[in-house]
Amino acid sequence: MKLTNILTFLLLFLSVKFIIADFNLTTCFPFTDVGTTALLNSAKKVYAHYFSLFLISIDNEPSATDYYELGWIDPNGEGGIHYGYGGFIRQRPMPRPVRSQSNWLDLDAQLEVTNALALGLDGFTYNMLSDVETDDHWLQLIRLMTNAPLVDPRFKIVLMPDMLSGWTNADDIDDTFVATIKKLWTHPANATLQRDCEGALVLSPYRAESKSPEWWLDQFNRFAVEGIQIAFWPVFEDVTPSNYQSYAALSTVQSEWDGNCVSSAPGFISASNYLQSRGEKYMSPIMSQNHRPKDFTSWESSNSGAIRAMWNAAISSGASKIQIITWNDYSEGSELAPSSGSKYSFYDVSAYYLRWFKLGSAPAITRDALYYFHRNSLSTQAPDLTKQSQVFTIGMCDTVSDKVEALVFLTSSATVEIIQNGQTYSQTVAAGVQSVKTNLLAGATPQFKVIRGSTTVINITSAVTVKTSVQWQDLLYRGGGSLTCTRPTI
Ligand SMILES: *[C@@H]1O[C@H](CO)[C@@H](O)[C@H](O)[C@H]1NC(C)=O
Ligand SMILES: *[C@@H]1O[C@H](CO)[C@@H](O)[C@H](O)[C@H]1NC(C)=O
Ligand SMILES: *[C@@H]1O[C@H](CO)[C@@H](O)[C@H](O)[C@H]1NC(C)=O
Repeated sequence: MKLTNILTFLLLFLSVKFIIADFNLTTCFPFTDVGTTALLNSAKKVYAHYFSLFLISIDNEPSATDYYELGWIDPNGEGGIHYGYGGFIRQRPMPRPVRSQSNWLDLDAQLEVTNALALGLDGFTYNMLSDVETDDHWLQLIRLMTNAPLVDPRFKIVLMPDMLSGWTNADDIDDTFVATIKKLWTHPANATLQRDCEGALVLSPYRAESKSPEWWLDQFNRFAVEGIQIAFWPVFEDVTPSNYQSYAALSTVQSEWDGNCVSSAPGFISASNYLQSRGEKYMSPIMSQNHRPKDFTSWESSNSGAIRAMWNAAISSGASKIQIITWNDYSEGSELAPSSGSKYSFYDVSAYYLRWFKLGSAPAITRDALYYFHRNSLSTQAPDLTKQSQVFTIGMCDTVSDKVEALVFLTSSATVEIIQNGQTYSQTVAAGVQSVKTNLLAGATPQFKVIRGSTTVINITSAVTVKTSVQWQDLLYRGGGSLTCTRPTI
C-alpha cells in the first residue's frame, strides 16, 4: 500500500471514528441504557416513517408565532381552509429556540437524526412524494442523506416511494421510476441509503400493490440494465395470502400499514407467523395513535394501550424488522417524535420496548418512572357545529374510552394515585410495567403519585387541563413523564 493511501485510510478511519455517535440516555429512562452501538449491532432493525411536510421548523421563527402555530394549529390558519375541523394539526414537533445559523434546515435534520439514534432507530423509511429536484419533499431527502453521516454514518434511509400519491401516479412513471431512484443511487451521499447484506439497494414502496408484480419485475429488469440490484420490501395495506403469493418471488421482506387500536395487534402476530413459515421476513408496524382532523376521524388507541400491544406483538412474533408509523406525520396524529403535546411519552416508552426487541430481553428497571397519557377533552363533549362542519367518527376499531392512564415502571411494588378535582383513585401494583387507569374528569389537571411505604417517590402534575366544553373536537392523546434529563441536542 502506498504511503498516501495509508494516510488517506488513517484519516478516513479517524474521521469516521470521530463522528460515530454513542448516545446513552440512562438518565432519561427507567433502565440503564446499552448505548447506540449495541442497538445498531442487533440484527433486528427498527425504522420510523419520515413524512417531509412536518420538519422541526418551517420558517425558523419564534415558536409562539411561527407557521406551525399560525398556519396549522390555529383554526383560522392558511386562510381558514382548516376551520371546519379546527386546524390542520393538534400538536407540533417539540419547539426549539430560533437558530442564528443560515443552515438551520441542515442543523434540524441533524437534530432529527440525533433524536432517532438516541431512541435506538437504525434509520428512517422516507416517504418519497416527489421526483422534482427543487421540490421540498425531494430536498429534505437529500438533506437527510447528507446530514445523517455528520451525526453517525451508521444511520440509514430506506427509500419508500409513495405509490398511492405523489410522483408515482404520473403517466410517464413506467419510464421515469428507475431514473429517479438512480439519481439517489449515484448521489455523493448515497452511502446513507439502506442496502441489504448483499449490497442491493433497499426499496420499500408504500402501497406496493398499487402496481402489479409484472410492473415491478419490469422495473427491476430496468434497474439491472443500469447496474442497480434491488432488495424489495413492499409495504401493503395488509399482508394477505394473495399479496404474499403475488409478490413473494420478488421480495425478501413484507410489511403492512395498519395498527390503530389494541385489537389490531394480534393480526401482526398472524402475519409474521405466516411470512416466517414461508421463509420470508416481516416488518411489523408500530403506531402510537391515529387522529386525523382533516378526515374527521379518530381511532381509539386506549392511551398507551395500542402502542404497547404492537410492541409486544412485534417482540413475541419474532418479526425481523419494525416500521414505526410514523415519526412525524402530524396530519394523521401518528407522530412518535418529541412533540409539543405528547412530549417524550411515546418516545421514551418505545425506548424500553425497542431495546427488548433488539436485544431479546426486557431492560431491567433500575429507576421508578411514570408516564401519563390523557386527552385534553372528553369524547362525549359535543363540538360547536356552527364552527366544526361535521362530527368526527370516533373509535373506528376499538370502543371510545375517556381514561387517564399512569403507565409506571417500578423497581418494586408501590401504590399509584391519580388525583383529579380533589378525588383520588388509588391502586397498588407489583414491580414492572403497569398500566393504571381511571375515568378522565372534565376540568381536571390530573396529578400522579407513586407512593412506597411512607415515601412519595413520584409526584407530578399533567401539563394538560381537561376542558369543560369544546368548540372543535380534539381526541389526540397528550402525555408526559416523571424523569427529567438532558437530551442530546444539535
Ligand atoms: C450508560 O450510562 C450508564 C450510567 O452512567 C452506565 O452505567 C452504562 O454503563 C452506560 N452504558 C454504556 C454502554 O456505556
Ligand atoms: C456513490 O457515491 C460515491 C461518493 O460520491 C461515488 O464515488 C459512487 O460512484 C456513487 N455510486 C454510484 C453507483 O454512483
Ligand atoms: C406534590 O406536588 C404538589 C404540586 O407541586 C405539591 O403541592 C405537594 O406538596 C407534593 N406532595 C408531596 C407529597 O410531595
